Order: sequence, then structure tokens, then C-alpha cells
Amino acid sequence: MIITIANQKGGVGKTTTSINVCAALALLGYKTLLVDMDPQANSTVSFLDPHELKYTIYDFLENSDLAFEDVVQSTGIKNLQLLPSSISLAKLEAKLIGEIDGHFRLKDRTESFRYNYDYVIIDTPPTLGLITINSFVAATHLIIPIQSSYFALEGTDDLLETIDKVRSRSNPDLALLGVVVTMYDKRTVISKDSVDHINKLFGRKVFNTIISRSVRLEESPAYKESIFTFAPDSKGAEEYQRLAKEIVENG
Ligand SMILES: Nc1ncnc2c1ncn2[C@@H]1O[C@H](COP(=O)(O)OP(=O)(O)O)[C@@H](O)[C@H]1O
Ligand SMILES: [Mg+2]
Repeated sequence: MIITIANQKGGVGKTTTSINVCAALALLGYKTLLVDMDPQANSTVSFLDPHELKYTIYDFLENSDLAFEDVVQSTGIKNLQLLPSSISLAKLEAKLIGEIDGHFRLKDRTESFRYNYDYVIIDTPPTLGLITINSFVAATHLIIPIQSSYFALEGTDDLLETIDKVRSRSNPDLALLGVVVTMYDKRTVISKDSVDHINKLFGRKVFNTIISRSVRLEESPAYKESIFTFAPDSKGAEEYQRLAKEIVENG
């Protein structure tokens, strides 16, 4: 299954969720691939040094002669591989406009690797542009992280409208796997209120697991580690492991 993690708001936990859900699925024994579709390459940087890369996903999407095996990277975590990104991916948006396969480029390229993995997770940029559309078209499932904050649901209308458009034209089977509440702070009323609002809008689609605000989760990427090696006994590790199990059960 191919799961796109998307929300056009920045800083809501897309990358943190992508990295740690991938690591958790890999630790559960599932063959997992993380596809970094964000030109900011935060997922990539969390595992390796982008300056050492010969090819990135931009080359893979632009050059159909390039083999998947030439681009995919190991991560140091067993069962987890990475299709890395770099800032050059930002050029893709402009190139895809007006191309006949503009919405389908990633989907077409997934054929060369999707059957090698139990889970493919796609991290996306904070926009609803062609890179994100490509990620919706390529996916079988969607996860929407929403930060528990005062403005939690701001922008959700545009996100859901875009998903509906993709469903009506390019990918009718695209399913919402779930909404995950991130950066929850049990001490604040705003966090609790925002969870009420998210539950009201998405109902049973909200994962039972809520990701708390945690310094450990914030720190781990700087050490090129997932939460499971950086702070295995932390609350963040426990929560992302539970979320991964829910994903397996719901999927
Ligand atoms: N549960 C959390 N607790 C504390 N900090 C978090 C948590 N999740 C994410 N962060 C931090 O918040 C910032 C934005 O998160 P990130 O995952 O990069 O969001 P996005 O990919 O949606 O832009 C990062 O600095 C990240 O380390
Ligand atoms: Mg990100």
C-alpha cells in the first residue's frame, strides 16, 4: 500500500510522522520505503547527508532511463529504504505544467518498485501544487496530520476539495486512512478544544493514537535518528509505535 502524508500547512508534523511511522513499520518487520517528495528534503536529511547523493527523486522522475536501484538509499534501519529528495525537486513543478502526464509522473514511476515493499510512505511539501497532486494520484491511502492548535482546521476545506478533485478525475480509489492529531499538549485547553473540533469534522477517521508534543521528537532528526533509537523509552516512541500498529490494522 502507498500512503501519502499531506497537509498544505507547514510545521504540522508531516515529516516527523513520515520518518517515525516508517521506522516503526520497519521495526515491525514490514519492508518499507520512504519517498521524500518535499524539495526541502527534511526527511532525507534525517537519515543521510544529501551532498553525498548522486541521484535524487528529481532525477528519477525526470529521467525514465534511470533505474530505481540507482536512486534508492539504505537508511541504517533494517527494512527501511529511502528515495531521497533535494532542493532541485523544486524545478519539477514548472516542468510538469503542460506535460501530458503532469499529474501521473510519480504514479507511473511507482510501478518499478511498489511491489517490492509492504508499505510506501510519501512525505509531501506544504503546498497543494503539482508535487502534492502527484503524491495524491500515486497513493492508495492518505494520512492527514493536524497540529492541535487554535488554527488546527484552517485550510482543511482547500485540502479536502483538492482530494475530492483528485478522486473524481485521476484516482477514484484514494482512501483517507486517517487523521492524526500531532503536538498535543494535555496542559492546554486549546489542545483539548482542537481535538474536539477535529473529532467533530472527521469522526471515526481520527486515529485513536494522539502524538504529544515532545522535545525528544523534535531533537531526534538532528542526530540522524528515528525516535526508536534516539529515545526508545520515550512517550514519542511509544505513540508512533501505536500509530503504526493502527495503520497496519486499518489498512
Ligand atoms: N510531537 C512533536 N513534539 C514536538 N515537536 C515536534 C513534534 N512533531 C514535530 N515537531 C517539530 O515541529 C517542527 C515541524 O514538524 P515537521 O514534522 O517538520 O512538520 P512538517 O513536515 O509538516 O512541516 C519540526 O521542528 C519538528 O521537529
Ligand atoms: Mg516536512
